[in-house]
Amino acid sequence: MRNIKRILALVVSISLVFALTACGKKDGASSDAGKLEQIKESGKLVLGTSADYPPFEFHKEINGKDEIVGFDIEIAKAMAKELGVELEIKDMKFDGLLAALSTGKVDIVIAGMNPTEDRKKAVDFSQIYYREVQSVVVRTESADLIKTLDDLKGKKVAVQKGTTMEAMAQQHMAESEIKGLGRVTDVVLELKNKKVEAVVMEKPVAKAYVAANPELMLTEIELSPEDTGFAVAVKKGNEDLVAKTNEILKSLTDQGKIDEFVADANKLMEEE
Ligand code: ARG
Repeated sequence: MRNIKRILALVVSISLVFALTACGKKDGASSDAGKLEQIKESGKLVLGTSADYPPFEFHKEINGKDEIVGFDIEIAKAMAKELGVELEIKDMKFDGLLAALSTGKVDIVIAGMNPTEDRKKAVDFSQIYYREVQSVVVRTESADLIKTLDDLKGKKVAVQKGTTMEAMAQQHMAESEIKGLGRVTDVVLELKNKKVEAVVMEKPVAKAYVAANPELMLTEIELSPEDTGFAVAVKKGNEDLVAKTNEILKSLTDQGKIDEFVADANKLMEEE
């Protein structure tokens, strides 16, 4: 009986969703083309991120309250403001973000994410808003032992699961043992606890963790990823949202706001 009720409820909600999307649909547009309208009607923009990534997104106590802040969050706030809605933030593991978009749990993902060919098969991306470099972090005690990629042969290296760093480590460190973990905070702990000898991180993120952990340091090893640059991800087919996002990103760049956001986020991070 309960199952039947559940199925009924599901059928009702699915037809509701169809009815709603049909209303918001413009002539000849694809099924999700009314996404912008949907967001405006709901009164909120739901952002999915993985808030373990200073200065892009991280937790910070502000006036006694835990808040998620950072460069990417400023972009999301600017978008919400432009759309005239509230911003709701959902913090999750990086490797769960794309599924959250596809299932409609979140409207956009801003998480220092590169628009890789693989990901483009699952979701759509905005233009690039930031370009990054990858670096390798080790414990200061290993300063003389680990100076090149070669020195990492036969050693364990940790990365955040599902990221481009994981793919790059597998590619450039074929003779190292690569360990993927859900949260960057766990990746860093693994290094501090000597479970791995090195980690691969985006340079600004690496700098942030090194600043907070004096027993860690940046090496001179840098990897340049094939897909450089971060972009905003949306569910496949949300063309109106991509267009609006690009428009907002362009105006933020033109006004010098992006640089301002980066500087502000760095300042917030250093205050810790
Ligand atoms: N740029 C990398 C990627 O796209 C890593 C991003 C991780 N982001 C995060 N918020 N933890 O895979």
